[in-house]
Amino acid sequence: MTIKAKFIDKILNDIILSLKKLGADETSPVYEIPPSKEMGDIAFPMFKYAKTLKQNPALIAEKVKEGLKGNELMDKIEIKGPYLNIFFNKNLIAYDLLKDILDKKDDFGRQPDKKIKVAIEFSSPNTNKPLHLGHCRNNALGDSIAKILIFNGYETVKINLINDRGIHICKSMIAYKKFGNNTTPEKEGKKSDHLVGDFYVKYAQEEKNNPEIEKEALELLNLWEQNDRETHELWVKMNKWALDGIKETYKRMGIEFDQLEYESDNYLLGKDLINEGLNKNIFYKEEDGSIWVNNEDAGLDKKVLLRSDGTSVYITQDIGTAAKRHDKYNFNRMIYIVGSEQIYHFKTLFTILKKMGFDWADKCIHLSYGMVNLPSGKMKSREGTVVDADNLMDLLYDMSMEVLNEKGRDLTEQEKKETAVKISLSALKYYLLNFSTVKDVMFIPEKSISFDGNTGPYLQYTTARLNSLFNKSEDAGVLNNQSVFNHKFNEDEANLVISLLEFEDAVIKAGETLSPLEICSYLYDLARTFNKFYHDNPVIRAETKEIKNIRLLLSKASLIILMNGLKLLGIDDLKKM
Ligand code: ARG
Repeated sequence: MTIKAKFIDKILNDIILSLKKLGADETSPVYEIPPSKEMGDIAFPMFKYAKTLKQNPALIAEKVKEGLKGNELMDKIEIKGPYLNIFFNKNLIAYDLLKDILDKKDDFGRQPDKKIKVAIEFSSPNTNKPLHLGHCRNNALGDSIAKILIFNGYETVKINLINDRGIHICKSMIAYKKFGNNTTPEKEGKKSDHLVGDFYVKYAQEEKNNPEIEKEALELLNLWEQNDRETHELWVKMNKWALDGIKETYKRMGIEFDQLEYESDNYLLGKDLINEGLNKNIFYKEEDGSIWVNNEDAGLDKKVLLRSDGTSVYITQDIGTAAKRHDKYNFNRMIYIVGSEQIYHFKTLFTILKKMGFDWADKCIHLSYGMVNLPSGKMKSREGTVVDADNLMDLLYDMSMEVLNEKGRDLTEQEKKETAVKISLSALKYYLLNFSTVKDVMFIPEKSISFDGNTGPYLQYTTARLNSLFNKSEDAGVLNNQSVFNHKFNEDEANLVISLLEFEDAVIKAGETLSPLEICSYLYDLARTFNKFYHDNPVIRAETKEIKNIRLLLSKASLIILMNGLKLLGIDDLKKM
């Protein structure tokens, strides 16, 4: 139970008692969280007692308030029409809260072990081109959601399904064969995945003048499926280039996986299952020999599962892969983080799995996310105008460097470089996570990197302020209950206490809704509350030793929570700036 929930429970008990005295038979009063801090920390509407007590709600509120007189859990009770608005006793909360935060540190907010295993598939690139801006969003989401789930007590397996075979891979291969002159990344001085991507673009350009080239790509796919040696050698070579480069990008972004799956290992998987389903009459055969499922009963279409020549389609392998994953991990949940253009695909997939009698089909969910656009227009890989992840990170790095050259006066050259890396990544990740997942994102680099406003760099700047506060001051404050109980919290301090109190709830909600945005909104609110407090209330030069002590404690707790929260987003704090 969170500290806040425990506190609310105590208040609920007292409200129940007070209502009972008035004659209302209440066991679980509803409450609301007021829209703004000025309206209190928790509010109880009294409408529902009007009938039994035959009084108007405002009057009931008055009487309940009367009954709570002298209650030490509350600083203040205000009546707003039918509402009882309650302000928590900050001294009581502050002591429990500060103690818990300072004791647990990194672990503050971590929830107990749930013994629930969640498999998360994310990123899943194709090996015909480098990662692009859309992958940045996918990576940031997958990484953050896994971290949030782990912090919420789940066990996770992060899976990356590498799409390393198929017609799109053969397209860059055929272009290389025709125009590549046996070149290599070394000869071209190019990052290896970018070289592969160039040939994919070359293919697309060539196809405009010479549509026949598609046949050649198909032939190559056939040769690949027949295990033709030369084709396989080229495939191995180009795939390695693509993957080596892609892995470098992951490393740079700070993205890791527990398991890499390769489509080339999985693509034959679902075939047996389809034949089994045919025997059980879950599927049917067309005259040409192709095998289909009819999903019209689920409001979807008919879908081919094996072509007449016996080859599989995209969904066939997803069926096999899902079953294999369930055997291997025995997951309680499987989350696919894949763009919203595949919503229909996953609906179909889960419907088929269910028809096949897999009871775990209901445990699979598709977490779809919207497109990422740049102001100049949509990203299109085929036309070569793709915004690739590396170039974008370069751009953000350069922009961070520029800022640091202006501002970061006490940083050495080396520190500047390290700081610019951290700032650029936080700009990118935070911007992409700070949207509701279903929404499309317009990525505006200048906005992402700004130090004021709702950005990653703003949060980092706040950690830098806090870190340097604790560099300057030897002590971080001592916690004893007398000093906390005797302190008279001013408004800024009280707001900060309440903001710190909300962290646990934000963590839980982010886990339940698979939403890093919850953490972003929370952290932004905390940082603003802290910065207002810090701007208007001297800490080191506080009026008295006691006040200094409390403010140091509040600052230390703010830093711990900011760092814990940023970690959940995959963002580093800054020691100085
Ligand atoms: N590589 C695919 C693409 O780029 C995404 C794979 C999604 N995962 C899956 N299990 N189908 O569109």
